Amino acid sequence: MSKRIASYWRDKRVLITGASSGLGWALTEALAQFEVHFGLLSRRAAPMQQLADELSKSGSQFWIRSCDVRDREQVQSAVKAFHREAGGLDVVWVNSGVSLDSGFSTWRWANFDAMIETNINGAVHTTQAALELMAPQGSGVVVGVGSAAAMRGLPGRGVYSLTKAALEYFLLSKAVELPQIQFTIIHPGFVDTPINRGNPSRFWVQTPERAAHIMLKAVARKKKLIVFPGRMALLFSLMRHLPIPAYQWVARRTMNLSRPTRPGV
Ligand SMILES: NC(=O)c1ccc[n+]([C@@H]2O[C@H](COP(=O)([O-])OP(=O)(O)OC[C@H]3O[C@@H](n4cnc5c(N)ncnc54)[C@H](OP(=O)(O)O)[C@@H]3O)[C@@H](O)[C@H]2O)c1
Repeated sequence: MSKRIASYWRDKRVLITGASSGLGWALTEALAQFEVHFGLLSRRAAPMQQLADELSKSGSQFWIRSCDVRDREQVQSAVKAFHREAGGLDVVWVNSGVSLDSGFSTWRWANFDAMIETNINGAVHTTQAALELMAPQGSGVVVGVGSAAAMRGLPGRGVYSLTKAALEYFLLSKAVELPQIQFTIIHPGFVDTPINRGNPSRFWVQTPERAAHIMLKAVARKKKLIVFPGRMALLFSLMRHLPIPAYQWVARRTMNLSRPTRPGV
């Protein structure tokens, strides 16, 4: 890691949602070397405590709270409590998320609700609570973890795609309103974490460690939006810019489609 990146992260007060697993876990491990003051949030406290115990000799400090991001009051209270504890808030990493099937023939309203409430409501709760503290400070960093699935409405994954595109649009709008705040939107391709284990359609899969390294470098370089790995960035850009009929032609031939039968059948 370069000196510039190390000095960007050193002693930062960083709140991460979804720290109990996957990308949030790997990020915490990667950042711990910089003597960060961490606020770790997710519903399960036990894995976050295990992570903090494993990193107890890193020189970083850990503040942990069980928090369901779908619950606005829980989020507001947790963000304020961390701000008080750490004496400020430098970075909020809006990372909690779920990815579930939303194909026509396998439709489940429970999947729809879980993705909207976690990936959109939860992300907005977290961002807004953090911005209410960062705006008066006159500084701060908001990192939004979207997904390469935001490239276009993906078959079988339409609701997940829309939640991640929604996060991108929301953060882009806030970035215009609040130029004193750094916003970095990150759309990862497939990373080997519990969210997609067992999915046979994964491709170009990366390790969480590699993904964490790429993400913390992108934030330190103040990128506005990144898609990774590089070949996923190319695919993302191509899919976003294809005319609709061409996109539909490609998607029908290359992506897993659910057979259009009655919902719930
Ligand atoms: N892995 C990939 O290939 C990939 C690719 C693109 C984007 N992403 C995005 O990256 C983010 C992290 O995913 P991951 O890969 O690390 O998956 P993961 O291992 O399943 O982790 C998801 C995290 O979100 C937390 N979470 C879920 N629902 C929550 C809720 N209601 N309240 C608070 N926390 C909640 C989980 O913690 P608890 O269960 O303890 O609450 C867990 O820590 C997600 O937003 C995902 O969409 C992942």
